Amino acid sequence: TYVIAEPCVDVLDKACIEECPVDCIYEGDRMLYIHPDECVDCGACEPVCPVEAIYYEDDVPDQWKDYTKANADFFDELGSPGGAAKVGKVANDPQFVKALPQQAA
Ligand code: F3S
Ligand code: F3S
Repeated sequence: TYVIAEPCVDVLDKACIEECPVDCIYEGDRMLYIHPDECVDCGACEPVCPVEAIYYEDDVPDQWKDYTKANADFFDELGSPGGAAKVGKVANDPQFVKALPQQAA
């Protein structure tokens, strides 16, 4: 799977959503999250993010390793909806993401 990391926080550019062929990028309050089971590793989202927030799971920089789990934990209650468009925004960010200071615009 691919993982969205800290640079997305409070940016939420959403260019990635347009590229995903399986609509597996879901919106939280502070950032977006890739569903680890629904992502088909097409990689189309990665180059379009203007802040380079998206990484293949093996390439997530060390300082953002927690985001691999965050992208999975976001779906603890949601399960596998099979498409983000119908789900919309969910205020389901993991606790450490919620607790991050406001990121500079
Ligand atoms: Fe976030 Fe980049 Fe997508 S800022 S919403 S991961 S395009
Ligand atoms: Fe979609 Fe990106 Fe995965 S475009 S299928 S979330 S690699």
